[in-house]
Amino acid sequence: MSGPVTPPPAVSKTRAGSSSLKDGGTVVPVREILWGASAGAHKYETAEELDPEMAKLVVKLMVVQADTEFASIQQHRPWLDTAPTLEDRWIESRIVADEARHGLQACRILRDFGEAGQRYIDELLAKREGEHKLDAFNMKFDTWGDVGAFTCFVDRVGVYQLRAFQECSYGPLARAMPLMLSEEQLHLNFGASVLRRMVQNDGKYYGSKEEAQRSVNKWYPRALDMFGHSNSATSRRAIEYGLKRWTNEDARARYIQEVTGLTANIGLELPDPATDRHVL
Ligand SMILES: [Fe+2]
Ligand SMILES: [Fe+2]
Repeated sequence: MSGPVTPPPAVSKTRAGSSSLKDGGTVVPVREILWGASAGAHKYETAEELDPEMAKLVVKLMVVQADTEFASIQQHRPWLDTAPTLEDRWIESRIVADEARHGLQACRILRDFGEAGQRYIDELLAKREGEHKLDAFNMKFDTWGDVGAFTCFVDRVGVYQLRAFQECSYGPLARAMPLMLSEEQLHLNFGASVLRRMVQNDGKYYGSKEEAQRSVNKWYPRALDMFGHSNSATSRRAIEYGLKRWTNEDARARYIQEVTGLTANIGLELPDPATDRHVL
């Protein structure tokens, strides 16, 4: 598919107002495709309705999604019973449970693609540490600062990817987003809180401000890489199919703007976005 990409509209927040439910009303689902080549048509609700190219793209996106969810469980695992405080251990366990559920959710979508989908699921479940698709998920959490910087920066990229799928053209994927996004919010807040506590209690909480900064320097370039190549044909196709709202470079620019303010507010510095990058 070629030609200029139509900018997608912002997703309306007012359609599914919960107040109307309280008043005995109903929630109006978004049934139409909101952007891309088929804007205005009904959303696709089953795998069988997708043309083969679109089906391939949904499968590809879900394989990457599930891979990151299962990989992060392996990364968090050593900290389940070594995180500094009881509350930190409890949140670590919640994060692991959430990521397992997100992996399951992506695999449920893959299951709808029959034998091919099931083969991908089997491959995903067999993957061990170091065998994952994206670099950020093949690195270890060597320090507690790594746990903070990963959840603050890498999980936040994940949130941008999920937000790009909000109200997308494939119904089963669109409907998975609200719960996943609300769970990811805990991970982001936790990551920022870990880094903030390290900065504010320099050396007394679990590691120094300097260690927190080292972790930011380690994970930020890998987080920026996760958005993918700036001139990606796949990301443009995903917009045309109504699956994603933003191109890779657009999402990355929005992300950089958000984390610039956040990191300064925590009291840490962001490396230059061009430093130590592998995917441009
Ligand atoms: Fe997740
Ligand atoms: Fe997460």
